[in-house]
Amino acid sequence: FSTVDIIRTKRDGGILSDEMIDWTIDAYTRGAIAEEQMSALNMAIFFQGMNRKEISRWTHAMINSGERMDFSGLKDTTGKILATTDKHSTGGVGDKITLPLAPLVASFGVAVPQLSGRGLGHTGGTLDKLEAIPGWRAALSNEEMFAQLAGAGAVICAAGTGLAPADKKLYALRDVTATVDSLPLIASSIMSKKIAEGTGTLILDVKVGSGAFMKDEAMARELAETMVYLGTDAGVNTVALLTNMDTPLGLTAGNAIEVDESVEVLAGGGPEDVIELTVALATEMLAGAGITDVDVRGALNNGQAMDRWRQMIIAQGGDPDVKLPVAKESHTVYAQAEGALLKLDAMDIGLAAWSLGAGRARKEDSVQAGAGVRLHVKPGALVRRGQPIATLLTDTPEKFPRAIELVEKAILIGSDTDRADT
Ligand code: URA
Repeated sequence: FSTVDIIRTKRDGGILSDEMIDWTIDAYTRGAIAEEQMSALNMAIFFQGMNRKEISRWTHAMINSGERMDFSGLKDTTGKILATTDKHSTGGVGDKITLPLAPLVASFGVAVPQLSGRGLGHTGGTLDKLEAIPGWRAALSNEEMFAQLAGAGAVICAAGTGLAPADKKLYALRDVTATVDSLPLIASSIMSKKIAEGTGTLILDVKVGSGAFMKDEAMARELAETMVYLGTDAGVNTVALLTNMDTPLGLTAGNAIEVDESVEVLAGGGPEDVIELTVALATEMLAGAGITDVDVRGALNNGQAMDRWRQMIIAQGGDPDVKLPVAKESHTVYAQAEGALLKLDAMDIGLAAWSLGAGRARKEDSVQAGAGVRLHVKPGALVRRGQPIATLLTDTPEKFPRAIELVEKAILIGSDTDRADT
């Protein structure tokens, strides 16, 4: 094939054949297609889209670019075969749900192999959050992963370099060419990794709203349907939930502060929205593995999920009882008016947490464990002038002015008190 012909075909709204797609992904992974040509093809896909058949083939070509994991023979320490289940969120602000969710589901005897990523841009990464726990290790060998699944029942670790390498290269290129938020490219990127991971059941948490890739519900629904189609077609029992991301989840956006909030949930407390979403996703994950009629919320209150969390953290070198790092500096933003808090924009809060040091601007950057934004109220509340709305945390106070601007922009207080819930 000629790469130029393939780019032209898509640029002019044509359909890429199976052979063209297989060739493109293979040649790009091997370094035989130049980055500028792949950038042009991504942009053509961004504007022209792909049909289901093309997306499916593109996904499979990315899976075939690397290894596939196989958990079909996974057994617990007593020799019982374990079903596997996983969830993936399309990315949000304050989205720490994986942390309480994985041990919660594992506490019912279903294995959770959760290969996670790091944050880039305004959305946080699960591995960055867990690395706030001193000593905790994200990189595990396949043998360590299997051993942990047989014991603790859940593992959250970094995906090895062998899993969908085409996606790693492509995602880095999309990130710098404004082609991340393309439906076919997001669906194939997520599903190639999740299918290669080898989970039996997959629950997708597709975020909709200001802090999500998909801002409107119709687009999010189409993304969800496409991913469910790809998973089902590949033999993975796949279900999607559409959930709101107009406002951050819970009261924290950062790393250590999100771990603390997750531990509160595992101890039977924590913010109601985090508990609700954790329980809803756990219920779907368990149902996918054939477990219904169990008291999912109860397992957060009776210590059952917490026991699994402690086992998971210890197995990966962390101390579950250690006090997590705290940012050196803080600055609180207060309500400028009295009324109903109508909005606390997820994107602005995410950008503020990121700019305070909770996220990274380039892949090679490190993150600050203690940085982030702690919210004191959520939309719906009535606030008085001078009441604290959010506290900004960082080790690098020169970051405050920009972050304060973002947090102030995130806040909308209305005089219309009738619109408040409380
Ligand atoms: N997450 C991914 O893994 N890939 C995307 O393209 C977007 C979100």
